[in-house]
Amino acid sequence: MVVGHGRQDEGRVSTGVAGLDRMLHGGLLPGRPYLLTGPNGSGRTLFGLQFLMEGIRRGEPVLLVAVDEPPHEIMENVRTFGWDLSKIHTLDANPGQLAYRRLGSVQEIKSLQEVKSMQELGDRKPSAQADDITLQSIYLRLRRQLEVLPARRLVIDSMTSVRHFALRATGEQQTDRTEIQSLLRFLSEKEVTTMLTALPPPSGDLSPEQLLCRGEILLRREWSGPMMKRTIQILRMRGTAHDTEERPITIGGDGLRVEDQGAQVSSE
Ligand SMILES: Nc1ncnc2c1ncn2[C@@H]1O[C@H](COP(=O)(O)OP(=O)(O)O)[C@@H](O)[C@H]1O
Ligand SMILES: [Mg+2]
Repeated sequence: MVVGHGRQDEGRVSTGVAGLDRMLHGGLLPGRPYLLTGPNGSGRTLFGLQFLMEGIRRGEPVLLVAVDEPPHEIMENVRTFGWDLSKIHTLDANPGQLAYRRLGSVQEIKSLQEVKSMQELGDRKPSAQADDITLQSIYLRLRRQLEVLPARRLVIDSMTSVRHFALRATGEQQTDRTEIQSLLRFLSEKEVTTMLTALPPPSGDLSPEQLLCRGEILLRREWSGPMMKRTIQILRMRGTAHDTEERPITIGGDGLRVEDQGAQVSSE
């Protein structure tokens, strides 16, 4: 099913995931925040990297806030794809093991790592630092970073982890929402197209990022006999006609790719 009307606008932002731009009738609207949800292993990180690599192909500066995994692990994970992540400006916000024992203390911005190229971070083994991560500290660092680097694309992987640390540090859900709102408003003002990744919240709950993002894309995965079945679905997308079908997606040599769009062609 296709919802909405209208022709494809100029200036859409390509997702970098083959077949998905077509589902979006041209791509994402620029300068807006989007949410990418899915369970662990569904491809959120790969999607985020493809989105950033697409920016690099177009000569855009791009930024990654790596929370779930440290940069050297991300680089190891995609080695078989042969992707060159070295141009992705990366904020290593992975707290490391020590921080898990120290949760509760408030993050000082100075204790977060400087933004570096993925290459630089990848070459370095993780230090035994004990940083706590809050949304505030990431926000301040991004503000500073965007003054010197006019990034067009940003991925925060994942908001679930950021919120986990922020909540543990402040203990206030409301503060969490207000802070996410300020951050997203700031990024929109700077015209950064932002992709927040997250685990789907427990059923019935609406996360702050679900309320605040302009669109949501869901990745699913389940075993079908010995085969892993993966799908992608655009759950919500403001400002553009889009395909709402749940479509098969595969992970191959070039990363995530939407398969089998025959039905979509006939509905266009
Ligand atoms: N280099 C790779 N080659 C083939 N498959 C991969 C590779 N990296 C990841 N995958 C597959 O993609 C899945 C999704 O990876 P990832 O994007 O890290 O998931 P998420 O961030 O949602 O936890 C993994 O579970 C794995 O099956
Ligand atoms: Mg991941």
